[in-house]
Amino acid sequence: MTTTKDSTKKSIVVLISGGGTNLQAIIDACKLGEIPADVVAVISNKANVYGLERATRAGIANKVLSHKNFATREDYDQALVAAIDEFNPDLVVLAGFMRILTPYFVQHFSGKLLNIHPSLLPKYQGLNTHQRAIDAKDTEHGVSVHFVTEELDGGPVILQAKVPIFAQDTADDLASRVHEQEHRIYPLVIKWFCQGRLKMQNEQAILDNNILPASGYANDE
Ligand code: GAR
Repeated sequence: MTTTKDSTKKSIVVLISGGGTNLQAIIDACKLGEIPADVVAVISNKANVYGLERATRAGIANKVLSHKNFATREDYDQALVAAIDEFNPDLVVLAGFMRILTPYFVQHFSGKLLNIHPSLLPKYQGLNTHQRAIDAKDTEHGVSVHFVTEELDGGPVILQAKVPIFAQDTADDLASRVHEQEHRIYPLVIKWFCQGRLKMQNEQAILDNNILPASGYANDE
């Protein structure tokens, strides 16, 4: 019996810089058939990160493209675009990819570039989001999945998940609480995209032909 590639399946390239727990959640959801797609490649800007091992164990092509070998951000992003384009993916997923992207990169993949950010955007763009939420005495925190635009952590939000902040929480406590939610909402959003239900138009996120509000789908406010 011969097997043919399922032409309804999409292909995904995932970019990482670290441990890759979100990558793992995405790989698992693809393998289980929950996401109608295959992760065809994983690229890391850092060597020796555990996410690369996760890719190898799953039989997924993976490589390190170190930003340290490039003189400028533009040079790096050009090489990164070329490395991704080799796989001709339907979707590029940033999963803990800790790089500021150039307009060239963002425009090249416009409408098929997703990011997950550990805060309830537009709150706490940038780094150290968990500690900043604790320092501000917030009582809730969370995570956002959004399309990437040229504005750092500023593209249209697709889905958020909230978590409580308790009095004694450290940043690590909060990070692990947020991570649990990340592993639920990122595969879900990727599924919507791969099913053809989700797109970006005029810098707005559209799900099932409805423009999503600023804080994404199913917000309770
Ligand atoms: C995740 O918490 C993700 O939200 C964050 O990096 C972590 C990666 O974890 N991304 C950002 O901060 C992007 N600005 P993982 O490697 O275990 O998936």
